[in-house]
Amino acid sequence: MPTMRLGIIGLGGAAKQMVPSFLSHPYVAITAAADPRDDARSAFAAEFGARTHATAEALCADREVDVVYIATPHQMHRDHAALAARAGKHIIIEKPMALTLEECGDIIAVAEANGVHLLVGHTHAFDAPILKMRALIREGVIGPVSMINSWNYGNFLYRPRRPEELRTDAGGGIIYNQVPHQVDVARLLGGGMVRSVRSMAWTLDPTRPTEGAHVTFLQFENGSAASLVYSGYDYFDTDEFHYWIGELGEPKRPDCHAASRRALEAMTGTGSEVAAKAGGGFGGGRRLTVPPQNEWNHPHFGVTVVSGPDGDLRQSARGVTHYGRRGAVEHPLDPPRVFPDKSGVIDEMYDAFAGLRPILHDGAWGRATMEVSEAILRSAREGREVGMSHQVPVRD
Ligand SMILES: NC(=O)c1ccc[n+]([C@@H]2O[C@H](COP(=O)([O-])OP(=O)(O)OC[C@H]3O[C@@H](n4cnc5c(N)ncnc54)[C@H](O)[C@@H]3O)[C@@H](O)[C@H]2O)c1
Repeated sequence: MPTMRLGIIGLGGAAKQMVPSFLSHPYVAITAAADPRDDARSAFAAEFGARTHATAEALCADREVDVVYIATPHQMHRDHAALAARAGKHIIIEKPMALTLEECGDIIAVAEANGVHLLVGHTHAFDAPILKMRALIREGVIGPVSMINSWNYGNFLYRPRRPEELRTDAGGGIIYNQVPHQVDVARLLGGGMVRSVRSMAWTLDPTRPTEGAHVTFLQFENGSAASLVYSGYDYFDTDEFHYWIGELGEPKRPDCHAASRRALEAMTGTGSEVAAKAGGGFGGGRRLTVPPQNEWNHPHFGVTVVSGPDGDLRQSARGVTHYGRRGAVEHPLDPPRVFPDKSGVIDEMYDAFAGLRPILHDGAWGRATMEVSEAILRSAREGREVGMSHQVPVRD
């Protein structure tokens, strides 16, 4: 099998979480990375022996890179994707794909014009239990999907943030950061074709002046519907409803409520939150805590239940549970191959690179998810149902 050489743009928290999955693939080599922060580059070079560059331009000019993983702040995604595509590099782009539908269209066009693969990594739609739920739906285990319900309550708004992450007009808040995961998962399970969106969203803390909660109703073309609920206010935590397993698959302590609020309150000085945010990336002081291997679970994005005439499917601790006519039947999965296990992303890109299968989460798919996410914001602001025009079906 061919080796796929990977370069990373942006050595922050997202890259730190993704690198273990890249390294877990037998035919992927991390050859280079780019970040303007000196300490991030030094730490990365020391850990992986990869070349580092101060700019995205230099990384895209690197001949030892086949695929670029773009993990920079949202507002840079379009430009970095264009640089990569024009240099002939295949692209994995972090969520959200971009900030507007127009930007998404630009990314799709530049990838097509340069003949490169484009994968949009809403990582939770690649979680093994979600892909298993999709496979069980295709097998007809619950019959045609009627309802999809997704609940996620957590601490999103009180994790350390860069200033623009708290400004909706700069791509901050849950609608650009978290809700796209929910939408991508719901679209995957519901067949992809959303007909309309109705939403309400709230900014409940004036010191964090961006949307932190929403409730949304999606109607699909095929007659199914989804309700999506998210709260990032660090009060209730839906991990309680998921066996006290955290988002990355780690065991979680049940006494965590409001801990992120308290940690934030304890920070002093204007730069300390920004420094704490940078501390989660390469060159920062915070290490990714890896539990003992026998405690690894698959990642999840709250509680997701899918229903049909023949039962309900729910992500369980180690797989998917089908609640059917004969009771609950467990469909176990292989344990995670790495922690955190985001390997679905790299597997999908590698398989396209090696010519084994086309990309499922491609540019058109990512734009359709962005269309729904943008409509959630619009529907909440304008108090009306919003119709869709860029939806694409699941191609599996
Ligand atoms: N899929 C997930 O679960 C997940 C998790 C976290 C973040 N993300 C996404 O990843 C992206 C990055 O988020 P983050 O939390 O890692 O942010 P971050 O601030 O921790 O990291 C961004 C990095 O990009 C670097 N950077 C800034 N300008 C650059 C440039 N011009 N060229 C190269 N590097 C540059 C910064 O120095 C920093 O190291 C966002 O799109 C975010 O939504 C996804």
